[in-house]
Amino acid sequence: MTHALPQATLSFRGVTVHRDPGDTPVLRDLSFAVAPNERVALLGLNGSGKTTLFAAAAGLLPHEGEIHIDGQRLTRRSCQALRRRMGFVFNVPEDQLLFPTAVDDVAFGARRLGQSDAQSRDRASALLHELGMRDAQNVPLHHLSHGQKQRVALAGALIGDPALLLLDEPSAGLDPPGKRLLCAQLTQCDAAMLIATHDLDFAARICTRFLMLDGGRIAHDTALADDIRQRWQW
Ligand SMILES: Nc1ncnc2c1ncn2[C@@H]1O[C@H](COP(=O)(O)OP(=O)(O)OP(=O)(O)O)[C@@H](O)[C@H]1O
Ligand SMILES: [Mg+2]
Repeated sequence: MTHALPQATLSFRGVTVHRDPGDTPVLRDLSFAVAPNERVALLGLNGSGKTTLFAAAAGLLPHEGEIHIDGQRLTRRSCQALRRRMGFVFNVPEDQLLFPTAVDDVAFGARRLGQSDAQSRDRASALLHELGMRDAQNVPLHHLSHGQKQRVALAGALIGDPALLLLDEPSAGLDPPGKRLLCAQLTQCDAAMLIATHDLDFAARICTRFLMLDGGRIAHDTALADDIRQRWQW
């Protein structure tokens, strides 16, 4: 008897992405898949294309080849609906925080999915509390530090219970207790995750697979953080 493979939550098949038309592509004929519940680190030198890969997966950059999210092909038409199944943390948190306070911002993610105002605020408040932000929930966002804004962005990404989380350097700028809380949240979350990071120790605590981008392709795909550590002599 044959068993069907579980459907990947994210798959790239032969994906090529250019930042500027006519330039050398940043991603070249790239293929990989992330299974449901899999937590995958995306590693690679500065400029290797990690953020570009996220932008393509979010439908923010055009691509050749096929990207599937939760079994549906990403196209210009499907991308709005597919984005609702994804949670993002961009590498610049200011780019994704839109509301005056943390609790308002995070609650918006739940309201957008149809939850009531009160439910949304309760859930936002609980998530912020779990991320060590209890006392900063109602502080104007522009008065928060970088690490505090990162935590608000993470709460906003988690609140919709997404099938897929795309996290671009989520631990950057977090203090050690903040990193611990981040690890705790991510390890108890059911979403498939792709986490771009230069922080291999952080990645090793939560990821079970490590992809290394080089020259626009996956140069290494390993379950052992030590393989990467040796290559980079970390
Ligand atoms: N907005 C942009 N416009 C044009 N080219 C860009 C833009 N952003 C990035 N690039 C180029 O795309 C390539 C990949 O950059 P990208 O930001 O995806 O790398 P990265 O792996 O995320 O790097 P880092 O580790 O520094 O975050 C680089 O050559 C970069 O110069
Ligand atoms: Mg980047």
